[in-house]
Amino acid sequence: MKTIAIILAAGKGERMGNTTPKQFLLLKNKTILEWSIEAFQRNEKVDEIAIMIDSTYHGLVEKLVAGYSKVKVILEGGSTRSETTQKALQYYTDDDDILLLHDAARPLVTQNCINECIGLLNKDEETNVVIPTLVPKDTLYEVGWGTMYPNEVLDRAYTFIVQTPQVFYRGTLAKAYVEALKDPDFECTDDGGVIINYGDPLEVLLAQGDECNIKITTPIDLKIAEVLCNQ
Ligand code: CTP
Ligand code: MG
Repeated sequence: MKTIAIILAAGKGERMGNTTPKQFLLLKNKTILEWSIEAFQRNEKVDEIAIMIDSTYHGLVEKLVAGYSKVKVILEGGSTRSETTQKALQYYTDDDDILLLHDAARPLVTQNCINECIGLLNKDEETNVVIPTLVPKDTLYEVGWGTMYPNEVLDRAYTFIVQTPQVFYRGTLAKAYVEALKDPDFECTDDGGVIINYGDPLEVLLAQGDECNIKITTPIDLKIAEVLCNQ
């Protein structure tokens, strides 16, 4: 049984509006991808790291990871985030492994957050999934499908913002993906959602996320991250 951090770095970063995918942009002294790798390299509970990429960037990534001893493999991702996760699940086949699925685009993940998420996983209590979350600060409206007409004001007390790393026993996640793939309309922007929709939500524990663990999505996020990492 190993604890493996899987860094999801196969995206194109379209919302960032840059020709270079955001994970390869510089944040202070190193790329966003290196920040993410470094957090798991430093973590004592993590045994190894896998990097999921678009093979166009294989040469660049090989150079970037050279100094990180825990990086064991660079794998080709898929065309959606879920497909990228599935490729990782095809590579790591031991159902007892603990997998930490992390967005490469979250370079400021803390040791505290990683430790907390791994520490809360508990097979005996059937906590097979741990997801870091935050309570939203803004009010959220839900609109009707395909419309801009609001039909519900969501109660903030019952909504959570979802972050990564999301931690799973490999077997739990793989089983939910088997069910998800039977659904022709399957679509999910995170892996926790696959458990909620196709697995057993009672196995999911929502942990405390971190306000600094932002996902670099649009240019303003990179500016915010620059301020945060200079603190
Ligand atoms: N990701 C991935 N494989 C994909 C799509 C996304 O590994 N096919 C990764 C991204 O590299 C990122 C993380 O999943 O680290 C979170 O996704 P997101 O923020 O949506 O990144 P992108 O898909 O790259 O950005 P955008 O949606 O703006 O194109
Ligand atoms: Mg995306």
